[in-house]
Amino acid sequence: MCGIVGYVGSGPVSTRGLEVVIEGLRRLEYRGYDSAGVALVVPGVGLATAKKAGKLANLVEELDAHPLPAAGAAIGHTRWATHGGPTDTNAHPHVAGKIAVIHNGIVENFVRLKADLLAQGAVFTSETDTEVVAHLLSAAYDLTGDLTAAMATVARSLEGTFTLLAVHADHPEEVVGARHDSPLVVGLGEGENFLGSDVAAFIAHTREALELGQDEIVTITATSVQVTDFDGNPAHARRFTVDWDAAAAEKGGFRSFMDKEIADQPQAVADTLLGRTDAAGRLVLDELRIDEAVLRSIDKIVVVACGTAAYAGHVAKYAIEHWCRIPVEVELAHEFRYRDPVVDERTLVVAISQSGETMDTLMAVRHGHEQGSTTLAIVNTHGSTIPRESDAVLYTHAGPEVAVASTKAFLAQITAAYLLGLYLAQLRGNMFADEVATHLAELRAMPAKIQTVLDRAGRVRQIARWMADTQTVLFLGRHVGYPVAMEGALKLKELAYIHAEGFAAGELKHGPIALIEPGQPVFVVVPSPRGRHSLHSKVVSNIQEIRARGARTLVIAEDGDEDVVPFADEVFRVPQAPTLLAPLLTVVPLQVFACELANAKGLDVDQPRNLAKSVTVE
Ligand code: M6R
Repeated sequence: MCGIVGYVGSGPVSTRGLEVVIEGLRRLEYRGYDSAGVALVVPGVGLATAKKAGKLANLVEELDAHPLPAAGAAIGHTRWATHGGPTDTNAHPHVAGKIAVIHNGIVENFVRLKADLLAQGAVFTSETDTEVVAHLLSAAYDLTGDLTAAMATVARSLEGTFTLLAVHADHPEEVVGARHDSPLVVGLGEGENFLGSDVAAFIAHTREALELGQDEIVTITATSVQVTDFDGNPAHARRFTVDWDAAAAEKGGFRSFMDKEIADQPQAVADTLLGRTDAAGRLVLDELRIDEAVLRSIDKIVVVACGTAAYAGHVAKYAIEHWCRIPVEVELAHEFRYRDPVVDERTLVVAISQSGETMDTLMAVRHGHEQGSTTLAIVNTHGSTIPRESDAVLYTHAGPEVAVASTKAFLAQITAAYLLGLYLAQLRGNMFADEVATHLAELRAMPAKIQTVLDRAGRVRQIARWMADTQTVLFLGRHVGYPVAMEGALKLKELAYIHAEGFAAGELKHGPIALIEPGQPVFVVVPSPRGRHSLHSKVVSNIQEIRARGARTLVIAEDGDEDVVPFADEVFRVPQAPTLLAPLLTVVPLQVFACELANAKGLDVDQPRNLAKSVTVE
């Protein structure tokens, strides 16, 4: 979704503002966008803007061809089109009078507001909802001569979701922002300050940051940050230190962020496990600020999430139900909210989200709150909205995930969900301490096993390259292998634009087997033969059934599982692991396959078409 950067520096005007903003936009590219633009305030001259449809490189080319003058304040934007197509004209900033504004979100009442403005003689040049905000700000400023007060007035009149940044031609010393249901963080520099959609926008310059609350206005100058609510009352923004460094967001020698993030997975899992036991080996989840009595009293867990995060929730369901004997429902967040779900004060609503900003998931959290449920966020991004609005948070420590399609965050989410399950089992007495310790030891062994899968990935890469012309691929799994199959299919759709579907293997005979024809590639995720025997033997039977009908079987099986060999065209081996933990291994060849096949097709694996990293509108 849209990326936003703001900057004010001290000293003589220079090109630093523009450089900071362009660099910040580059770091926010992972959010997905289809146009980009900047606005500068040039002292004594006024506003200077540039904007271009397409990638940031187009804007940079435009700036090289037509350089902007040195400036004080600067704002920049990458736009993911909602109202109006991705054109130069619809790109932000939008200017009205002496004000330039950029916006992330949707102004839901813009039709009515625009009609009022048109009636008053305003002239619009774009199809966007944002241009309405520029006109409203301009009119409000004219009444008071105060950009901060104007922003508060306009923010109160808007419905929908928004992060807004505005600059005024006569005020090269300040940038004013507002946020409602959309992210905005402040970066605190030495003689300069920053604003960003997330900390990636400014981590090259400072790691000191302020987390803005809901419905707040912020005004930054080079040396000050002032935060108020929409009524102008002073508000307190929490200060925090960003523990990601700029290098962590770089590719580190890999051909793409996606390749790097797949390779980073052992570390992501290890870091998510780090520091979560006390000296006696007991699991301690310090961030879980929920009263233990409340956790003991819950009688149902509902996981709300979208996309890959929802598949992590499905894996969590198998583990938590098995370990804790608490019923777990997993619901797509957008369905949960509009379905009148049966949840109450004894329900724990667990929101899983890499970004912490997914609007559907945020709304599900709010709905859970309204029903009196306790809410817990499993989130990767510090300073984001979902953890702030939840009763408790369990952070995954995957580091910044830049590629739009999720990989390392998925493994970290599953890991955090396992920790939650074991913690609840410990707290509620479902397991003895030594049983919890055994599971934790098995979890700690997983990063090395993931590394083994990565080290063996040569063959899956080779097969992926050979399959670059494939039109359709099916994925089958059972038990925890079922969400893995769905995630494998999602990765292939997202990255390689190939039709792919994941099925529960048991469902095969109820319909999907009709799709099998000679040569149809089918990945099958096979459970451990050392787990429940009937589970393994049933999946082996499924492989035979599709092979008999001509399918090309690509089998992911544990080391030592020889039963699959006679029926597999290819076997991709993973190390032995407990049944419930196996998804941390079995999904990896599927990620590698999708990434390699997309690369073979010459596609941009980091920014697949039509997708946004952070879906901040419903
Ligand atoms: O940031 P979140 O984890 O809340 O995002 C949820 C989904 O939008 C995300 O997982 C999406 O499905 C990715 N494209 C998956 O690769």
